[in-house]
Formats: sequence, C-alpha cells, structure tokens
Amino acid sequence: METLKMIQSRKAIRKYSGQISDDQLHEILVAANAGPVGMGRYDDYRLTVIQDPQVLSKLNGIYEAPTVIVVSIKEDSASDEVSTGAIVHNMELAAEDQGLGANYNMASLESIPSDVIPDGFKPAFALTLGQTDEKFTPREIPLDRIKTNMVK
Ligand SMILES: Cc1cc2nc3c(=O)[nH]c(=O)nc-3n(C[C@H](O)[C@H](O)[C@H](O)COP(=O)(O)O)c2cc1C
Repeated sequence: METLKMIQSRKAIRKYSGQISDDQLHEILVAANAGPVGMGRYDDYRLTVIQDPQVLSKLNGIYEAPTVIVVSIKEDSASDEVSTGAIVHNMELAAEDQGLGANYNMASLESIPSDVIPDGFKPAFALTLGQTDEKFTPREIPLDRIKTNMVK
C-alpha cells in the first residue's frame, strides 16, 4: 500500500485468527532491520521471535497472539528505548501492509522468560502478531488527536 495511506490505515489489532507465514515474518524482520536506531548502534539491540505455544502461554496481555517479537536492549549500554519504538513501528506497518493484525505491547515485558532473551539484554518493547479478519482502509484521523502548537 502507498505509505501515507498505510500510515492512516494502521490500527491496533487485538484479535488474531491464525499464525503468520514464514514469508510474512521475513518481510517484518526486513522492516525491523530497516529501522533507525540512535548512533547507528544496531548491535545494542536484539530481536526475539516467539512462536512456541508453551512460552507464549506465559506472557501477559498478548491477546492470544500466535507470534510475539520482542526487541531487547543491551544492558548497561547507551542505547535507548526510543529506538526500539522505531523498530517496532516499522514492523507494525510491515505487518499490517501485508494484511496481518499487529499491536505494540508493553504489558508482556515483565512476564517474558529470561531464558528466551539473549544474555546481557533486557526486553524493552514487543509486537503481537497474527492473521486477522480486519481490513485496513485509511481512517479519519483528527488533526488535534495530538495537540500541536506552531512556532513560525
Ligand atoms: C509504547 C506503547 C505501548 C503499548 N502497549 C500496549 C499494550 O501493552 N497492550 C495493548 O493492548 N496495546 C498497547 N499499545 C497500543 C495502544 O494502546 C494503541 O496504539 C493506541 O490506543 C492507539 O490506537 P491505534 O493504534 O489503533 O491508533 C501500546 C502502544 C504504544 C505506542
């Protein structure tokens, strides 16, 4: 979809109807790697794709999503959580551009088993993913949803 239309169409999806394909996952991971991170310090971040039902069952607030991708930050580094937001947002757009349901997730962070996260990294942000019956069409977005002041 055209970029601006996709940005207006994206929305939080919390109901999932099936697992995503490996090809769809591949496109999402490409989008993650295309994301910007502060100082270009890509090695300060890690992605963990969780599709194991036993691990998923331990995660809080994921709305029974069949896939969760966790973005972790290297402990004791100068890296930042803002960059994880950019990575997750890229993935969310790439997912919904493919007709998948996706949503940002912080609710699960405390419940992620430490043994699935690479040593020396801590979970910072996550994305829930799955097939959806929802359709994505441009939404009417009020321009004062985020209050703005002009300086010019
Ligand atoms: C930093 C951040 C954390 C979020 N955490 C959660 C979450 O844990 N659970 C959830 O259901 N939605 C979560 N959301 C989704 C927001 O609730 C949602 O994006 C917002 O209500 C606007 O709705 P929209 O995405 O449909 O425009 C999060 C969004 C952001 C940006």
